[in-house]
Amino acid sequence: MENLISMRDLDPKHILNLIDKAGKIEKKEIWPDMRGKVMASLFFEPSTRTQLSFDTAMKRLGGEVIQMSGTKGTSVEKGETLSDTVKIINQYSDIIVVRHPLEGAARYISEQVRIPVVNAGDGSNQHPSQSMLDLYSIFKTQGTLSGLTIALVGDLKYGRTVHSLVYALSSFAPKFYFISPELLSMPKYITEDLDKLNIRYEVLSNFEQVVPELDIMYVTRIQRERFADPQEYERVKNTYIIRAAQLKDVKSSFKILHPLPRVNEIHVDVDVLPSAYYFEQAGNGVYMRQSILSTLLGVE
Ligand code: CP
Repeated sequence: MENLISMRDLDPKHILNLIDKAGKIEKKEIWPDMRGKVMASLFFEPSTRTQLSFDTAMKRLGGEVIQMSGTKGTSVEKGETLSDTVKIINQYSDIIVVRHPLEGAARYISEQVRIPVVNAGDGSNQHPSQSMLDLYSIFKTQGTLSGLTIALVGDLKYGRTVHSLVYALSSFAPKFYFISPELLSMPKYITEDLDKLNIRYEVLSNFEQVVPELDIMYVTRIQRERFADPQEYERVKNTYIIRAAQLKDVKSSFKILHPLPRVNEIHVDVDVLPSAYYFEQAGNGVYMRQSILSTLLGVE
């Protein structure tokens, strides 16, 4: 592993190694020593969890962080190109974590620099470190990644976390339910890839009839910032508001995940259910990001 740009680049062995290492870090069996290492955290789009959990991950392992949050106050405002900006940051740091609104930006940056790059979200494309923490959360709660029945609910068109997660799970014989308004259905290039891999999936508009057979329900926010037409967003924004009363008949190991932030797609009355796992899921991000950073930097 030289970079973490897309879940399509990771094979099951990489995935299981990262999960195993995150588990050992969480249990304090290992402490990869990152003293002397510097992570550049470049966020050209808003973030709470991803940026702060990468920072926490690095600092708790003894490493240091430099950061750009947006372009205000930087030489990008004077016209410096992305290529020149990252070539300079290459001089100051050992690894780059980048979020950018343009699809393909992280891959492009990885071609401009000689240090590892982690894609922390590129437009609607991919968010692989989120998928890795999602897999870690699934593994911790289900004891396996294999043969699970997973509903993806919400914005399947613009949600980069669901795009990454589908590829992340596709090596582990999943059964997917894709549940969205028609306007926000899973992109065709992804369903075509699933067809080639003989992965089972069904497209639905409602989740209630499949709840009893689910291992995981993965809910996403309708991504308002990606809509070209604000009226389209208004039409679909409240399609799903999941309430505790709709989640009575579930498997004992059933969990609800959400990459967060939520708007109103999971009602707060769900938060107290034993199946609500989204806050712990965000906490798992620190261990998984420690695993990713230390692996890319060759620190064991
Ligand atoms: N899950 C996630 O990417 O959250 P942030 O946008 O807050 O980083």
